Amino acid sequence: MKLNVYHDNWALDEAVCPCDIHFMRWVRASGLKGGSIFHFGTGGHHLVGIECAAPDLDNAVYGITASPQEYDDYVRLLIDNPRIGRQYKAFFGDIYQLDARMLPAFDVVTLFHLCEFRNETNDLYDGLTDLEVAELLVDRLKPGGHILFYTGSFAFETAKPKIAELALSRGLQRLPDHESLWVFEKA
Ligand SMILES: C[S@@+](CC[C@H](N)C(=O)[O-])C[C@H]1O[C@@H](n2cnc3c(N)ncnc32)[C@H](O)[C@@H]1O
Repeated sequence: MKLNVYHDNWALDEAVCPCDIHFMRWVRASGLKGGSIFHFGTGGHHLVGIECAAPDLDNAVYGITASPQEYDDYVRLLIDNPRIGRQYKAFFGDIYQLDARMLPAFDVVTLFHLCEFRNETNDLYDGLTDLEVAELLVDRLKPGGHILFYTGSFAFETAKPKIAELALSRGLQRLPDHESLWVFEKA
C-alpha cells in the first residue's frame, strides 16, 4: 500500500487553471492582511504562499501538497528566500489525512480541488471523505471566516452537492462570486 501521491509538478498557467491567481486578486480585493490561510494544493509555483508573504499583505499560509516535486521546490524556495519561511509553511501529505488537532483557527480556507483526487487508494488507509475534509476545515474557520471553491475544477459538479450539504450543516452564507471562485462566509 502506498500514499495517494500527486505525480505532477503543477506549473502556473492562468489559461488552464486560474484559481490561485483569482484567489490572490480576492485576497487583495477583500483587504485581508495579517490573516491566516489554509490552502489546498500549493502547485510547484507556490504563488499563494509567496505573494501572501509580501510585507503589504503579511498573511500566514499553511499549504498542503501531495507532490514530492512540489515539496522539493518549496524546500529550495525557502533556502533561497528565507524571509518567506516565516509566513509560508507548506507541508507534504494527503489532505484526506488531516487531523484537526494539528490545525490552528483560520481566517480563510481554499478547497479548490475538492473531489479531484480522492480514490480507492485513500480507502486503503482509512482516508477521510471529501465531505469530512470540508467539515473539518470549516470547523477550523474563525467566525466570519471565508471558504472558497473553484468553479473551474473538473470535479466541480461532484463537489457541488457536498458544498450545499456543508453550507446547510455549518451555516455558511454564500457571498458574491469572485471571478471563478465561490465564496462562503461562516456565521
Ligand atoms: C492541479 S494542481 C493545482 C495547484 C494550484 N492550486 C493551481 O491551481 O495552480 C493540484 C494540487 O493539488 C495537490 N494535491 C493533489 N492531491 C492532493 C492530496 N491528496 N492532498 C493534498 N494535496 C493534493 C497537488 O500537489 C497540487 O498542488
